[in-house]
Amino acid sequence: MTGTRIQANPDCFDPDYFAKHGYPHDIWAQMRRDTPVAWVDDGVREPFWAVTRHADICEIGMDSKRFISGKGVTIMRRDMLEGGEIPRSVPLMLTMDPPGHEKNRTILRERFKPSVMRALEEHIIERCRLIADEVAAQRVATAAGGGGPIDFVDAIAMRLPLDVILELLGVPTDDRDQMYLWSNAVIGSEDPDYGDVALPRDAIVGAQQAMFGYFMKFITARRAAPRDDLVSLLVEARIDGEPLSDMQILGFCFLLAIAGNETTRNATSGAMLALIEHRSAMNALASKPELMTSGVEELLRWVTPIIYMARTAVEDVEIAGQRIAKDEKVVLFYPSANRDEAVFEAPFSFDLARKTNRHLTFGFGRHSCLGNNLARIELRAVLNEILTRFPAIDLAGAPQRLRSNFVGGIKTMPVTLE
Ligand code: HEM
Repeated sequence: MTGTRIQANPDCFDPDYFAKHGYPHDIWAQMRRDTPVAWVDDGVREPFWAVTRHADICEIGMDSKRFISGKGVTIMRRDMLEGGEIPRSVPLMLTMDPPGHEKNRTILRERFKPSVMRALEEHIIERCRLIADEVAAQRVATAAGGGGPIDFVDAIAMRLPLDVILELLGVPTDDRDQMYLWSNAVIGSEDPDYGDVALPRDAIVGAQQAMFGYFMKFITARRAAPRDDLVSLLVEARIDGEPLSDMQILGFCFLLAIAGNETTRNATSGAMLALIEHRSAMNALASKPELMTSGVEELLRWVTPIIYMARTAVEDVEIAGQRIAKDEKVVLFYPSANRDEAVFEAPFSFDLARKTNRHLTFGFGRHSCLGNNLARIELRAVLNEILTRFPAIDLAGAPQRLRSNFVGGIKTMPVTLE
């Protein structure tokens, strides 16, 4: 066991690097090989141990006794910590530990289980058709102008995940654009286009407050007259016999609205980009629908839209021979685990027919993604619709990446459809 702190290359977590180049896969590969648990202290953010191997990430994900989520799952800028970490201002299941975590997760579990999600599939497919119809109609309307490029993110990728989660929550899908702006401000708080690079905390708090005000109206309305939606479910839920407080319900709404759209949107854009960059794989997927299930798993592995989640050690622990001290944070790099040579055969080759695919795109352990069944259905539906309706889709310019080290986001991606 070593107590030495081997410093990692700071680019492994630098939002500017991510915005310019995408994921630093070669740096992570080197870390997996030489320093699988390495210390990162850039002087700006909280210091942490970077964990890059699949096996170590699974071990930590499973060990919720020694590695907790309750002290935050993101690495904060030190100046942002001065006012208290933002996500902890409302209770979020993401940052809870047993036994509270389980009690909260149980409330939603039934509504997100595979059979319930499968029953939604036809409706989701229909929504994709409507989105594609709208895109096609807009193109006819602009055909006189040459039917030029469209922004894939704005016209397609952002639509379905937001529409579906808003519909599940029971709030109007007409409010999609407003929710998009708030959600971008929270997740893109360090990107000059969405947040405030100097004061990201203010950007987050402002958007969060606005979202709370928005959801509160629906909470009040459903208390008076419940319906068959998630806000009503939350209003009627009990934990240890007690109804949830407004803040608890707001925490759920906030988490679902963010988690249910940022991730799947970026998975959709990232998947489309990967397919455009691998044209023969795209053609194979278009002509063999039976490839879609393994294909979506490979796209999820390839893209891995969530870069990391953090945990805090509650006692001194050893991982991969490295001593981690009590109260220190570990960062689980999911995209790195998804290229781990020890788990995936030829991890850098893109293989839509890959057989065993133990990717960690949805995390691992008790916090693993509650919405994974829904995300898989959405991705299958949207990709199928695009490949059928717009098989000649191609890039019309360079995609613009989000300045974030948490979400591997694509802000804009100009494409031509024919
Ligand atoms: C491709 C799309 C998605 C990706 C990549 C993704 C990724 C993740 C990851 C990595 C976690 C683990 C957090 C941790 O380890 O601490 C997580 C948790 C979660 N996700 Fe997703 N997610 C996706 C879609 C969704 C959707 C569509 C929803 C909801 C409708 C959702 C809701 C949640 C919730 C509520 C949690 C917290 C679970 C808990 O703390 O027990 N996600 N997600």
